[in-house]
This record gives sequence, structure tokens and C-alpha cells, in this order.
Amino acid sequence: MRSHCRRKFLILSLLLPLLLCLSSADDAAVMTKLLAALSPTPSGWSGSAYCEWSGVVCDSSGRVSSITLSSQSLSGTIPSNLNSLSQITLLSLQNNRFSGTLPSLANLTLLREAYLDSNNFTSVPDGAFAGLSSLQTLSLSGNLNLSPWPFPSELTQSPSLVTFYASYANLVGSIPDIFGSFPNLQNLRLSYNNLTGSLPSSLGMSEIQNLWLNNQATGLSGRLDLLATMIQISQVWLHANAFTGPIPDLSNCTSLFDLQLRDNQLTGPVPTSVMSLSNLRNISLQNNKLQGPLPVFPKTVKVQLGTTNSFCLSTPGPCDSQVSTLLKVAGALQYPITLAESWEGNDACNQWPFITCDSSGRVIAVNFAKQHFTGTISPAFSNLTSLRSLYLNDNNLSGIIPESLTTLPQLQTLDISNNNLTGLVPKFGSSVKVVTKGNLYILTNGSTPSAGGNSGSGSNSTIQSGSTSGESKSSSVSIGMIVGLVIAAVVSVLVVLLLLYNCYVRRRHRKFGRVQNPESGKEMTNVKDGGLNGYAGAASEMQSQSSTDQSEIPVFDGGNVAISIQVLRQVTNNFSEDNILGKGGFGVVYRGELQDGTKIAVKRMEASATGTKGMSEFQAEIAVLTKVRHRHLVALLGYCINGNERLLVYEYMPQGTLGQHLFEWSEHGCPPLSWKQRVTIALDVARGVEYLHSLARSSFIHRDLKPSNILLGNDMRAKVADFGLVKNAPDGKYSLETRLAGTFGYLAPEYAATGRVTTKIDVYAFGVILMELITGRKALEETLPEERSHLVTWFRRILISKGNILNAIDAVLNPDEETYDSICRVAELAGHCTAREPHQRPDMGHAVNVLGPLVEQWKPSCQVEENCGIDLHTSLPQALLRWQADESTSRAFGDVSSSRTEASIPSKPSGFTDTFSSTDCR
Ligand SMILES: *[C@@H]1O[C@H](CO)[C@@H](O)[C@H](O)[C@H]1NC(C)=O
Ligand SMILES: *[C@@H]1O[C@H](CO)[C@@H](O)[C@H](O)[C@H]1NC(C)=O
Ligand SMILES: *[C@@H]1O[C@H](CO)[C@@H](O)[C@H](O)[C@H]1NC(C)=O
Ligand SMILES: *[C@@H]1O[C@H](CO)[C@@H](O)[C@H](O)[C@H]1NC(C)=O
Ligand SMILES: *[C@@H]1O[C@H](CO)[C@@H](O)[C@H](O)[C@H]1NC(C)=O
Ligand SMILES: *[C@@H]1O[C@H](CO)[C@@H](O)[C@H](O)[C@H]1NC(C)=O
Ligand SMILES: *[C@@H]1O[C@H](CO)[C@@H](O)[C@H](O)[C@H]1NC(C)=O
Repeated sequence: MRSHCRRKFLILSLLLPLLLCLSSADDAAVMTKLLAALSPTPSGWSGSAYCEWSGVVCDSSGRVSSITLSSQSLSGTIPSNLNSLSQITLLSLQNNRFSGTLPSLANLTLLREAYLDSNNFTSVPDGAFAGLSSLQTLSLSGNLNLSPWPFPSELTQSPSLVTFYASYANLVGSIPDIFGSFPNLQNLRLSYNNLTGSLPSSLGMSEIQNLWLNNQATGLSGRLDLLATMIQISQVWLHANAFTGPIPDLSNCTSLFDLQLRDNQLTGPVPTSVMSLSNLRNISLQNNKLQGPLPVFPKTVKVQLGTTNSFCLSTPGPCDSQVSTLLKVAGALQYPITLAESWEGNDACNQWPFITCDSSGRVIAVNFAKQHFTGTISPAFSNLTSLRSLYLNDNNLSGIIPESLTTLPQLQTLDISNNNLTGLVPKFGSSVKVVTKGNLYILTNGSTPSAGGNSGSGSNSTIQSGSTSGESKSSSVSIGMIVGLVIAAVVSVLVVLLLLYNCYVRRRHRKFGRVQNPESGKEMTNVKDGGLNGYAGAASEMQSQSSTDQSEIPVFDGGNVAISIQVLRQVTNNFSEDNILGKGGFGVVYRGELQDGTKIAVKRMEASATGTKGMSEFQAEIAVLTKVRHRHLVALLGYCINGNERLLVYEYMPQGTLGQHLFEWSEHGCPPLSWKQRVTIALDVARGVEYLHSLARSSFIHRDLKPSNILLGNDMRAKVADFGLVKNAPDGKYSLETRLAGTFGYLAPEYAATGRVTTKIDVYAFGVILMELITGRKALEETLPEERSHLVTWFRRILISKGNILNAIDAVLNPDEETYDSICRVAELAGHCTAREPHQRPDMGHAVNVLGPLVEQWKPSCQVEENCGIDLHTSLPQALLRWQADESTSRAFGDVSSSRTEASIPSKPSGFTDTFSSTDCR
């Protein structure tokens, strides 16, 4: 063995000079090639003695040990055999215009520093940095035209790496979890690439001081927890990414002086440990969704907080106590972005989603059902002492059920079903209904894991509703009956009055303008609390608001109108193509005709439109919507559930949509709408929306405005359609967002920032409708040049210079002076409604007040209907009458079975369509 080795050594030492000789010949060849490739020729590079060239250093044996060619405006492609310069320790090519493939540096075992930055290399060969066992510095930043390439994992073979710069270098993919291989790494700059994924955990163990990962195109994501363990860190640039979760406790990062976290999705409060870092000089936090009190830093720190975080107050100081408690609740859920975005301000009762309050501003219900939340249940819930309902079901919560929840004095319902909770269910009072099913590892009262069983004290069938209603359970029926009788009596009186009214109308023919509030508003907002997930919070709120509990009685109950699929098949001729009225975002709408000739519109919803909505939610939503009756709102008459399929039955509106009469009238062979018709329609819409807003204030209804959701009945009067449930309904949120998708052009600017629907957003959309009525142009006309395509922008610009309005008016209107005045009033209102700041927009009542007189002024000239071309008066009272007569006889006291429904439908008012592609407009 030993002699064999010695022989080998001998041969090697004989060969060595020869190898060296060959190698320096190789160096000469590489250097000659390099010289030939460079343009212009670097100064001082001439002759064959490359060791003499300026910037080239050779060792004693004539091997190249360093090349320095920085900042010489050189271009050309570096020869690919550069790595034959096996003795090179320094390669400095930065700040030139070198292009083409970066030379591979593989196997340059002596190379310590390579500066290739600020060039125009176009690609990096695979394994270009393999075997660089001495490498300390590699700089590649500023090669903007590199074709996308992954983080070079072969650098793990460079344990001495101290500095790696590759900003603006088109890196893609994730940052590999290899930082355990770089015990000396101090500087890592990878800004302005397209790196994705989360920070690899080994980064947390590294000694990095200078970390730049900012401005990734798609954005790095995940949480920042590992920063807490990077105790050497002094500069952190993570801005302009997609990081989520809270800022960690950085109390051990005592060297940190510069922390750039702006433009991410960070949530939760700013930790006090960050505010008290003694070396901190610079911090940016704007454009996140940070919560809690406004952070306060010492004067020595330059701070950027911006205005789009979700701090509870704009001035320093603690948050309201309910807000603080809910923040702890959110903290246990790891500060989900949904909560950080939607829980704005310092009043948890000011339209915070998932939260229901009583009239004195105390949280009475928290409904987090089906939100994909992870984390744990915060013991801080116990500080919401008025809490009655807590829905945490159908999430991914782990941990235990905190004992402190048992101290909630008002608690009636705790639903934690379908999570991954563990431990013993604490003992709740007997009035609390606890639903624990669907938690595999939960233990009930020292028993075995319940494996999906139901536990807790209450049975699932009855909600123990605590103090008052428990005892009034039996009496509520009689109260209900009394109320029902009273209402039936009122209805009968109404019917009589309407009959008289109608006769009067017929005789006088056209003496009156409109029916005084035939809608039966208030009682219709009651919803039956069937203990339905998602609505229970809203329901209990509503119940607490009404002094008498009418929820058990089908008062004026257009709700629960289940219609059998057989009936719908029959009336739509088995959903024949000939009966398709239109295709909307939610499904296909069919015309149906009942035996007596009454037309209905049947919307066959696409599965995606109902989404994850459970059957009970669907029914609850329908129950409410069928109760909303107003002569300017299209009535939902009933529904049908057929297996997984859901269908909705609406009034049929034979004239089609506003959009068709406004934009496509010539295609349909209709006359254009006159100004009088337009103002009348605007007033109708304003009244309908005003009514919806009055409902929304007390409950849960919302809608969007666009001409396809404004439908025209027989008489060309407008009705507003397609409204839905929002508040306190997780699934309502889904359906609402679907509704709003595609309504750009009608959406107020703040919607993009808040994603929240408010009455002011409707007012804005209404303003856009007004502009469409004035100009005959669509809210968004993509075929027009950009400066004209967005109606609001264009029209508001014209409003500023009043003289131009005439040019903006729909050409078919050809206004006389009186009409022009009227148009100007409406234009002014439109401008007002589309004010940029929501608080500057009027409410719908104002719009009604402005438009009302404009319509009234024509009354006298409309004495002869024929001359007006439209019948403003007759059909609605009749239709209403028929409907109410029907209600009073067949509905007031009982459920409507599906067999009876068929008979009751014909007497509903006629007319409904959704989004038409074609209509006959007569
Ligand atoms: C580097 O060296 C290894 C082993 O000595 C060899 O397999 C590989 O081909 C070399 N790479 C290049 C690019 O020369
Ligand atoms: C970089 O190279 C591309 C072609 O690969 C060329 O079009 C571009 O002009 C170059 N940029 C500079 C600054 O030289
Ligand atoms: C970033 O990478 C993703 C794929 O990971 C790609 O879809 C996206 O277009 C890239 N963005 C840019 C700006 O290159
Ligand atoms: C800070 O370091 C100490 C000692 O290693 C450790 O006990 C503590 O948990 C660390 N604090 C944080 C917030 O990581
Ligand atoms: C409840 O609030 C009080 C003061 O507002 C606070 O001291 C206490 O820690 C809170 N309880 C929980 C469990 O958060
Ligand atoms: C549920 O919790 C158990 C125990 O904590 C855990 O082992 C399991 O992985 C969890 N399951 C899910 C789906 O999170
Ligand atoms: C209550 O539970 C029983 C059996 O556990 C079940 O058959 C019934 O459908 C449940 N009722 C409701 C309203 O969930």
C-alpha cells in the first residue's frame, strides 16, 4: 500500500511542472480569447505577455491570479472557458456592458471574489457557481436582461461565503433552505427579483446582518417570525412583498437600525419591543394592515406609518376596550387579514363584519363560522360580557376550549363544531347550547373522545334562548296570532282601500300620480331564527330590536314559498331554449307562463353562484328576500330546491332592462327613452334604493346598481332587482362580491380600498346611472379612447365647465330650454352623487327630493296618457292589489305547501327579468 502511494507521488511530482506548463499555456489561450472578445480593447492590453496587461495579476509561475476590468465601458461576450484560469482568486468585471452567457465559474477552487454586477449578461449556465470552495463574495446585481433563473443552490459548496448580491437579476422561484451551509454569510441582497414562497427557516439561524429581499415581483409570502432569531441583523429590507401575519417580537435584535416593512400584508399590533429598539433609526410600516394602537417611536427614529394601516386611532393611545378584546381574539387566530382589513376604527359596533352589537353598543354575537381560520380560541372572549352567541364552527381551530368562556353571563349559543379542538369541554350553564360535534380529539366530561358526536348540555333541536323567551315560548304563539290577526285586518282594510282607490283611478282615469307607500316595510324585516348558521347573529339582533317577537308567525309571509320543480318545468316548457330571457352571471333566466297567462321569470342558478352556501342559509336568505316588497323593487316570488340545484322565481318584467332601452334601443326597434321617461325612471330607482337603505340600516340587505339590474315593467316604470343579503352572512359576502365583479364603472373609488359595501357606494352607482341617462353612454365603454372610456371621469370633467353639458347630452334628447334646465339639475345631482369622498355624497333621500319635483312638473301635461306614450298609473296598483288580496287569503296564517303554491303564484304581480340578451320591447 505504502510503496504504491509513494510511487504515485513520484509520478505526480514529475508530472507537475509539465501540468503547470500546460496550464499557463491554457491561461495564455484564455487571455488571448478574452482580449479578442473585448470591445473596445482595454487600455494597456497589448502584446502576448498577458501578465503585463493592466489589471491582470499573475502569480510567480505565470498563472493569472486576478483580472480587474471594472467600469471601462467594455462590451462583448466573455469566453466560456474562463474557468480554465484555475489559479484566479479575483474576477472583477462589473459595471461594463458585457452580454451573452455569463461564463461558468465552476471549479475555480481558489476564487474568492467575483464581481459581475452591472452588466448585460443574458443567461447563467447551470452549475456556474459549483465547486467554488473559497468563494467569499459573489456579486451579480444589475443584470436586468438575464433570462429567469433559480437561486444558485450550488453555492452550498462555498462555506466561506460572506456576501451574495443578486438584486435585479431575474431570480425566480423560492429561496432554498440552505443557509445552514453559510456560517459566515453577512450580506444577502436579492431585491427586485421574482422570488416567491416564504423565508426559509434556516435563515433564522444565520448570522446575516444585511438582508435585502424587497420588491419581489409577485412577492415573498408567509410570516416574519424568524426575524426574531436573527440576532445579528442590523438592516432588514422586506418591503413591497406579500408577507402576512404580525411583526414578531424583535427584542433580541439589538443591532437593528433599519427596518423596512412597508407594502406588505402585515397584521396585528406593532410590538412594543420594536418601538424600544435602542439602535433603531429608520422604520417604514405604511401600506400594511397593522392593527391596535398607533405605535410611538423615540424622536431619533424616522418613521413612516402611512394612512392605510388599520390602527384603531389616528392618534396615540389605547384602543377601546371591546376593540382591544377583539384584537386579542384576532391574535389567537394569528391576525387573519380578513379581520385586519375589515375591522376599521375604534368602534367594534360600527359595521364590523362578524360582529353584532345591541343598541347600547355591546357586542352580543361573534360569528366566525366557515372562515378557514386557524389558531386557537382566545380566553379574552370572556371580556365580551354581553356575548350571547359565539359561532366558531367549521374552521380549523386547534387547542382547548378556554375555561373562561363559562363565565360569560349572557351566553346562549357556543358552536365550535367541525374544528380540531382538543381537551375537555368546560362545564357551561344549562341555558347554554354547546355544539361540539366534528372535533375528533375533544373530550366531554371525562368521557372518551366524542368522535364527531354531539355533546354539551343542550340538545340540537331547541335553542335555549335564556331568560325571557324561554317563558314566553308558549305565549308567543298567541301574541303571534294576535299580531297576525291585526295584520290580516290591516291588510283587509288596505285591500278595501285599494279597491276603492282603483275604482277611483279607473273613473278619474289619470288624476293621481302614485300610490302612497303600499309597501309593507317594517314587519317584513323579521326573519325566522331557525338557528341557522350564519344568520343566527343577525336574527338575534333583529329580534332584540323588535319589541314583540313575531318571528314565529308567517306575517305577510311571502317567504318559504317553495315551488316544486315539476311546476317550474311545466311553466317553462321544460326549460326550453325558446324561453331563455337572458344569461346573467348567476345562471340562465327563463320565461315561464302560468295557466292563467301570468308570466314569471325563473332563474336557474349556477352552482358557483350559490357557492358553499348550505341549504339552510339559502332558505334563510330566500325567506328574507321574498319578504321585501316595494313597488320599485322586483319581487322574489319563490324558490325551488331540486337536489343540488337552486332556482329562484321572480316577477316578470316584460320591457326588459334599462340598459336595453338606453343603449340598445335601435337594435330592439324601440323608440329612445324621452327625458321625462328617464327622470321618472331615475326617481323610481331612487325610491327603491332609498327603501332598501332603510332596510339595510336595520338589517342585512344590499344590492348593486347597474342598468341590467334595473328592470322595466309594462308601463316602463323601473324596478330595482338582484339584491341580496350581506351583513353577518359569510356566504352573503361571497354572493355580494360575485355580484360586484364586473360592475366596474359603477363602483365608487373607495370600494377598491375597503371592499365594503355601504349606502354611499350605492349613491355613487346611482350617480353613474344618472350620467348614463343624461348621456346615453355606458359607464364603461372600452372601445372609446382612454380619456373618454370611463363615464364618470369624463362627465365630471365636463361638469366643471358648465357650458359643455349640451355636448354631453344624449343626441336623441334634443332638449328644449325647459328640458335643458331639467337635465342640468340632474347633471348636478349626478356630480354630487359621484363625489370622490363618500361623506360628500348625499343620501338617497336627497336624490328623491331633487328628482321628485322634476317629475311632478310634467303632471299636468300628461293628462292624456296617449300623448305621454306611457301609462304611469294603472297596472301597479292592480298588480299590488292582486298580490295583497292573495296574501290576505292564502298566506296570513299558514305555511304554503308546494301544491298550493302553484295556485297562489298567478296572482303575483307580473314582470321580472334578469340580464337579457334579447327582449321584445313593445
Ligand atoms: C468540475 O469538477 C468536477 C469534478 O472534478 C467535474 O465533474 C465537473 O465536470 C467540473 N465542472 C466543470 C464545469 O468543469
Ligand atoms: C443588452 O442586451 C440586449 C440584447 O441582449 C440589447 O438589446 C440591449 O440594448 C443591451 N443593453 C445595454 C444597456 O447594452
Ligand atoms: C414571476 O413569476 C411568476 C411565476 O412564478 C410568473 O407568473 C410571473 O409572471 C412573474 N412575474 C414577472 C414580473 O416576471
Ligand atoms: C431572546 O433571547 C433569550 C435568550 O436566548 C430567549 O430566552 C428569549 O426567548 C428571546 N426572546 C425572543 C423574543 O425571542
Ligand atoms: C379583560 O380585560 C381586562 C381589562 O380590560 C384585562 O386586564 C384582562 O386581562 C382581560 N382578560 C382577558 C382574558 O384578556
Ligand atoms: C388535529 O390536532 C391533532 C392533535 O393536536 C393533530 O395531530 C392533527 O394533525 C390535527 N389535524 C389537523 C387536520 O389539523
Ligand atoms: C338533531 O340531532 C338528531 C340526531 O342527533 C338529528 O336526527 C336531527 O336531524 C338533528 N336536528 C337538527 C335540527 O340538527
